[in-house]
Amino acid sequence: MTELSADPACAWCDGRLVAFAEARVPLEDRGLQFGESLYEVIAVARGEPFRLSDHVERMRSGAGEIGLAEGVPSLSEWGAIVAELHRHQPHASAILYAQVTGGTAPRSHVPQPPPRPLFFAYLRRFAFPSADAAARGIAAVTFAEQRWQRRDLKTVMLLPAVLARKEALARGAEEAIFVGQDGFVNEGAASNVFAVLGRAVTTLPAGQRNLAGISGRVVEEICRKAGIPFSVRPLTVSDLRKADELFVASTTALVMPVVRLDDVPVGGGSPGRVTLLLAQSFRDMLWGPAGPPS
Ligand code: PDD
Repeated sequence: MTELSADPACAWCDGRLVAFAEARVPLEDRGLQFGESLYEVIAVARGEPFRLSDHVERMRSGAGEIGLAEGVPSLSEWGAIVAELHRHQPHASAILYAQVTGGTAPRSHVPQPPPRPLFFAYLRRFAFPSADAAARGIAAVTFAEQRWQRRDLKTVMLLPAVLARKEALARGAEEAIFVGQDGFVNEGAASNVFAVLGRAVTTLPAGQRNLAGISGRVVEEICRKAGIPFSVRPLTVSDLRKADELFVASTTALVMPVVRLDDVPVGGGSPGRVTLLLAQSFRDMLWGPAGPPS
């Protein structure tokens, strides 16, 4: 077994707990060779996976579409896996990374018989953005959409997202926002996009253009509880530029204000009141008023 200080120390791989350093995916794994694979990233705060059933449901429904449903554990199995991983690594703040792949077979686009899917998951310590980070916000750049047409499936075909983020970083920004050829905004490289117009929060419809983000669903719930108007409609880049506030939401960014878009300040150039309220409420849901441990 790996030293206890290693992080991750262990992984759940193909039905059993193994030392992380010894966990292996075969060279002919279909996720590796064909991108036939789905993943989830789940916040684990104080030992509890946040919105686990939503993440499991999203993976299950995507896996059903690409023929990998039998590889996705049941919700109670996921709960037991997270608990087991957390027992070995009791991080106060972590992310669970989970992936199902098409399994292993001699390389062929459609092997017969189809191999048994592979599922693996591990927990990694993770520092979620603090109140200070949210108070600073981030810069984002717009980027021409280059991904396939099924963005509702959370596949590991992430090369366009990686390239877009690299370009964003090179331009001093932290997120790239994909824009379709039709001029409508899609989503961030790894987040959903929200504009605040007046006091109303607006986001783009989820579907084949955009992943149905679970953090976005939480944002909607917070808005409804707080009496903040919430709407869903297509948005153009010019809508984003005119917005009073702009933010992205994801499991790892939570609610993160975007204070510059393509080098132009958004709103007043600092995080807006509605966004900061949403960011605070989101952190409270995960860790309570004390906030995430640093
Ligand atoms: N990605 N859209 C895309 C393309 C994403 O990759 C993500 C998250 C989201 C937001 O989904 P959620 O709120 O369920 O995290 C939207 C994860 C965090 C990642 O790839 O690391």
